[in-house]
Amino acid sequence: MSDSIDANDPPELDQGGEVAQHPRARIRSFVVRAGRMGTGQIKALAELGPKYVLPFKAEPLDYEAVFGRKAPVVFEIGFGMGGPTAQIARTLPGIDFIGCEVHEPGVGALLKLIGEQDIPNIRIFQHDAVEVLDQMIPPGSLAGVHIYFPDPWHKKRHNKRRLVQPPFVAKLVKHLAPGGYLHLATDWEPYAQQMLEVLGADPDLVNTSARADGYADKPDYRPLTKFEHRGLKLGHGVWDLVFKRKG
Ligand SMILES: C[S@@+](CC[C@H](N)C(=O)[O-])C[C@H]1O[C@@H](n2cnc3c(N)ncnc32)[C@H](O)[C@@H]1O
Repeated sequence: MSDSIDANDPPELDQGGEVAQHPRARIRSFVVRAGRMGTGQIKALAELGPKYVLPFKAEPLDYEAVFGRKAPVVFEIGFGMGGPTAQIARTLPGIDFIGCEVHEPGVGALLKLIGEQDIPNIRIFQHDAVEVLDQMIPPGSLAGVHIYFPDPWHKKRHNKRRLVQPPFVAKLVKHLAPGGYLHLATDWEPYAQQMLEVLGADPDLVNTSARADGYADKPDYRPLTKFEHRGLKLGHGVWDLVFKRKG
């Protein structure tokens, strides 16, 4: 894809990268861009993809069959290049992680880490997380959801593409087990405020933070991400939010 497309002003594309024809096509939180794949990523996709990338199907996922054990499951939306996902999965070996990412080089990069570090507790969907959630994640089944540095869609007219909005949060909550958590992080303050407002207004969620500003201290298991490094260098803040589904 041309480099001349403004990241903040993309054309309306559907998930396959085609120009959306249907005027009422669902607004998506991402734009699929062709990215250059490294040779290691290509090799990882070919060799490890069949084992760790799950096919999207419109039927509920059997976690025990997928992971070969019974363990709490955490769902991550938009893992990017997957470095933090791999690190968290190694820090928390008793938890199984399902990560969704539509950007193929990112999927290749995480597979490469899984292979190099021999990480057994991650599976991947290279598919829209919203559809995976709708079609494959059983309601009430998740121990947690991670959304780290989601695309901020800075421009006012693109704000509608932001993931964290009341209907989507209600959908996430429906898929959490009672007591399950939502952990969000962003370096874009207006989005952090939106997150706090939306999560705070959901009747089935409770904020775990005792801080006056409502944000959470970064939990130890979350490493700094690439985006966070960049944000901090630019002098941005970083805001974590951790809410739990009422039990
Ligand atoms: C700004 S990046 C952040 C990546 C990573 N979490 C990090 O902190 O480095 C957001 C990522 O979310 C992915 N994404 C956005 N909406 C998605 C969706 N509905 N399903 C799957 N991936 C999505 C994008 O492809 C992009 O790679």
